[in-house]
Amino acid sequence: MPTPFRILGIETSCDETAAAVVDGGSTIVSSIVSSQIDLHARFGGVVPELAGRAHVELLTPVLDEALAGSGSDASGRGIGAVAVTYGPGLIGSLLVGVAEAKALSLAWGVPLIGVNHLEAHLIASMLEQPDLGWPLVVLLVSGGHTLLVAVTDPGRYGLLGGTVDDAAGEAFDKVSRFLGLGYPGGPAIDRVADTGDPTAFSFPRSLPGHGLDFSFSGLKTSVVNTVRKHPEAKTADVAASFRQAVVDVLVTRTRQAAVEVGARAICLAGGVAANSLLRRRTEELASDLGIGAFLPSRALCTDNAAMVAAAGWWRLELGVPSPMDLGVDPNLRLVSTA
Ligand code: KG4
Ligand code: ZN
Repeated sequence: MPTPFRILGIETSCDETAAAVVDGGSTIVSSIVSSQIDLHARFGGVVPELAGRAHVELLTPVLDEALAGSGSDASGRGIGAVAVTYGPGLIGSLLVGVAEAKALSLAWGVPLIGVNHLEAHLIASMLEQPDLGWPLVVLLVSGGHTLLVAVTDPGRYGLLGGTVDDAAGEAFDKVSRFLGLGYPGGPAIDRVADTGDPTAFSFPRSLPGHGLDFSFSGLKTSVVNTVRKHPEAKTADVAASFRQAVVDVLVTRTRQAAVEVGARAICLAGGVAANSLLRRRTEELASDLGIGAFLPSRALCTDNAAMVAAAGWWRLELGVPSPMDLGVDPNLRLVSTA
């Protein structure tokens, strides 16, 4: 194992501009996240062109703050490598982060490490508690992805299942927009659902095929049809019943996955991991199975650069740095390595 050293992480794949300095792959020294929520809220979702331009404006001050918070500065003093998300994500947004990371890597004479955003979310779930016991089952639920992954150690994982249509976060965002609850939809529905009756409507729990896949587009359509048929329905009841259906499906599949791989613990990752009902139900599931559960703090669930720096450390540990002609890949996937 190499001497622990500091990595600067940069994250600009969607609507958060983030930079962080992480020591030895696990100690967060500084982490700054500038959210563009206010910018996109009035459009009901992320506008790619606006996101790219905002990253250009925000990245320098965010980087300055993250470097200053780690006792460094624009000279890159004490920084041993620069890690950056190169996919998946919005192409214009990814380009801003990767161009900056290349410039810093060249100027400071340190390695450049391209990081898969999904792998970073997986590592985030382990950052605060590295000794969970292997194998782990991670439920990675974000705005763009819904995946069940078996992790045998950081950097080695096998894909167990994924969504065949909408991601869980996407379903939250679309239903929220339809209900007039705003953007981002997950937190809005989560708040309103707490005041509603989760048994008011029986929405479908779709479990496609015999594997560990997910499907959320039928559920979303069912919510729309139900509200059109019952315009008098209380929004809080619809939100609570919808949240209950999404979480039922996520927990059912996670239970199957944990049993199938003989998991010693379950982890949540990605923005939807901030959902209060999913967190409660995951803890109940783990205690029922007699295994560990780890729910990262909400700041580590949603997009941040500490997870990028930590994933970069593991990438470097397992291989070689990225070349200077590293491109961006908006459709980058998570590939099984176990
Ligand atoms: O991981 P993330 O920050 O960005 C992506 O990589 O997509 O996830 C953002 C997603 C959004 O769809 C947002 O609505 C959802 O996470 N989200 C939630 C909650 N907080 C954020 N979904 C359900 N409940 C929440 N409390
Ligand atoms: Zn993400």
